[in-house]
This record gives sequence, C-alpha cells and structure tokens, in this order.
Amino acid sequence: MRITVPATSANIGPGFDSVGVALSKYLTIEVLEPADSWFVQHDLGEDIPTDEENLLISTALAVKSDLSPHKLVMKSDIPLARGLGSSSSVIVAGIELANQLGGLNLSDDDKLAVATEIEGHPDNVAPAIFGNLVVASYVDDKVNSIVTDFPDCGFVAFIPNYELKTSDSRGVLPSELPYKEAVAASSIANVAIAALFSGDLKKAGKAIQSDLFHERYRQSLVKEFEAVRAVGVNNGAYATYLSGAGPTVMVLTPHHQAAKIKSDIDALGLDGESFILSVDTQGVHLD
Ligand code: HSE
Repeated sequence: MRITVPATSANIGPGFDSVGVALSKYLTIEVLEPADSWFVQHDLGEDIPTDEENLLISTALAVKSDLSPHKLVMKSDIPLARGLGSSSSVIVAGIELANQLGGLNLSDDDKLAVATEIEGHPDNVAPAIFGNLVVASYVDDKVNSIVTDFPDCGFVAFIPNYELKTSDSRGVLPSELPYKEAVAASSIANVAIAALFSGDLKKAGKAIQSDLFHERYRQSLVKEFEAVRAVGVNNGAYATYLSGAGPTVMVLTPHHQAAKIKSDIDALGLDGESFILSVDTQGVHLD
C-alpha cells in the first residue's frame, strides 16, 4: 500500500490560516511488512526520527493507539520549513495510515477535523486531504470547509535555500488588529475568494496582493520577495504572494508566461530554486 499526499500553498494573500491550494510536489509513504517496532526508512535528514517519534507514526498513534507496528518507506520532494506544507502532508499521511491499518473508515471531513486539531489551522491540511482550492474556518474547535477548482493558471514557486520556521514567522505578527483595519482586511479577503471562485484571476490577483493580515509583517523575513514580485509584474503575472508562512514566494501567472517567469527568476541568481507547479486535484490517495 502506498499513501500519497500533495504539497500545499496556504494563505494565498489574505486567506490567512483559512485558504490553501494543493500543488504538484508529493510525500509518499510505502507501507511494508509488519515489524516488532515502527521503522520509518527515509533519507530526509538525521533530524527526522525513524521510530515512533516520527510525526507520521505519532500522528497515526494519536488517531489509534493500538495500531500494529510496520516498516515504512517515506519519500518526499516537499522541502522542509519552506511554506509548502511539509509537516501537514506528514500529518495527513499519518491519519490515512491509521485509517487504513485500523480500518477506521474515516470520511474526508473526519480526517480534516483530526488534522486541523493537530496542526492548529486548516489551510494546509485541508487541501492536502481534498486536493484543489479549499477555504476553511476553524473556530471553537469546529471546522467548516468548501472545496473548489482553482482557476486555470500556472504556479511558479521560488523556494529559498533556507528554512523559516512557522513559529518564527508567526512571531512577527501583531497580537491584535484595530477594528477598522480588520474590516478592510476582511473585505479584501472576501473579494479574493469571490474572484477565485468566479474564475476572475485578474481581480483575485489584485486582492491577493493587497493582503493586510500577514504579508506586510513577514516580507522582511524573505529578502528575495520584492525581486521575485518584480519579475512577476514585468511578465504580466496575476499575483505574487508569500506561500504559507514563507519563505517560498509563489507567482500566479497565465500558463504561457510561466516558463519565462521561471527563467527570469533563475537569472536573478538568488540563493534558491524555482519550480513550475500545477494544482493537485486528488489530495491524499492510495495506490
Ligand atoms: N497560515 C499559516 C501561517 C500557514 O501563515 O502561519 C503555515 O502553517
């Protein structure tokens, strides 16, 4: 059995903690034979445990504590701590592992409730489960979500070579937003979502780049942001935004400009790598 989970790009401008899209980088978990104790084989670095301390196994055991141990192989091309939902993908895989090994028959909404409780917000775990574009709220321990197609466009991701921990990136946010600013920020988010749902990428892009919830506080943490946004602007991109908590910078563009945007970003010689990604429409699945 193999569990596959896509990468995710959260926030998409003003959709802070509530909007995300599944993208074409993947975590795969191959479930091998039963064993005396859990063993996760991987080449993702020495800091990632291979026993039940691994987030995959601790998540699965949090869902069902009496699962019988197995040997597993974990592979991922979702870089760690880069704003592409690497830990959410592991949490979603862990829930699916418990679902399969424990015969739990969880619905996608069940998985989302558990994943959100573990992760703390739904914007990465929801698209990792459902695929596509997901808008979700998590208030008073209750999750509500809507899934829809992302309007047809290209995604160019610039992924810096350094990590940015979500906790550090959340640390620069204010603890409060004045009422008037919150109303303005919410109106921008409403337009962004309405435009995405109606397929108007030009208006969506304008709203995405007008975020007042988080990007203005975080941009100084990602020194490449302005240069990448300038490439987007010069090439007629719809929007450039900070993916999740960063440091990945995402450019939304008409498909025909994606290759040019990637090569212009590459020509800047920044410390990082760029990729052209597409929307994953499946979310977590087995093969
Ligand atoms: N919405 C989250 C944030 C995503 O921006 O902090 C990263 O977990």
